[in-house]
Amino acid sequence: MQIVKTIGEVRSVVKQWKKEGLSVGLVPTMGFLHEGHKSLIERAVKENDRVVVSDFVNPTQFGPNEDLASYPRDLDRDAKLCEEAGAALLFNPEPEEMYYEDRTTSVNMEGLTKELCGKSRPIHFSGVCTVVSKLFHIVTPDRAYFGQKDAQQLAVIKRMVRDLNFDIEIVGCPIIREEDGLAKSSRNTYLSEEERKAAVILNQSLKIGKEMIEKGEKDAAKVKEAIVKNLTTEPLAKIDYVEIVDFNTIEPITTIKGSVLTAIAVYIGKTRLIDNFIVNI
Ligand code: PAF
Repeated sequence: MQIVKTIGEVRSVVKQWKKEGLSVGLVPTMGFLHEGHKSLIERAVKENDRVVVSDFVNPTQFGPNEDLASYPRDLDRDAKLCEEAGAALLFNPEPEEMYYEDRTTSVNMEGLTKELCGKSRPIHFSGVCTVVSKLFHIVTPDRAYFGQKDAQQLAVIKRMVRDLNFDIEIVGCPIIREEDGLAKSSRNTYLSEEERKAAVILNQSLKIGKEMIEKGEKDAAKVKEAIVKNLTTEPLAKIDYVEIVDFNTIEPITTIKGSVLTAIAVYIGKTRLIDNFIVNI
């Protein structure tokens, strides 16, 4: 596996692959990779001749009081995981390589970015859409892989690809969990031992909601109420949001029908964790 730092190097490697008629998969990441990322890379390796993993902590998607400076980084460990999973190229640019200081262009989306994480992180999705568009132009993949843990991000990227006619298939992949149900996340490393134990409340509360829906509950308010009630039993948990929305539009719904995303964001201590489930009724 090759590790490169410049856009020019990525372009020349991918150009050669394309000349040889090889298909290319892209797994965009911010590094500090875990089993969740590994599952995306392995899926991409199965479905493409060559796989590029981007490893870039994108500054434009962090708000001023967020964890950009402390976001965990470990390139050697990431490279090992990528190699084991079968990636062919790891792209690890510096911010100066990705962004001109005097840049004046960004990709902004209305609608789907208003609710959920967009409410508490107002500039987040503009940063995500901009960097993902840039990565798509740099790598020109046939397919790109995103985890369902960031369900709103997945819906936003799918919509962006449709609206801007990117010729790329977006593949959404299932959430990978720890044994006790906590969704794998690079941010789990921020948790103290006590907080780590408390963090199981997220998945536990979602399970209560999911069971209600599976048993036929159609009233979104009732499902939401049950999730909130269970989350509030954990003293270390502070709810950012609990929302039930249409997965395609990310608009809140009152009746459970169609493709339904139940998403939560909860602070455990200072760490903001997200989790969700999607049902098709
Ligand atoms: O999901 C992430 O890790 C990031 O938001 C992404 C898609 C790599 C863009 O920086």
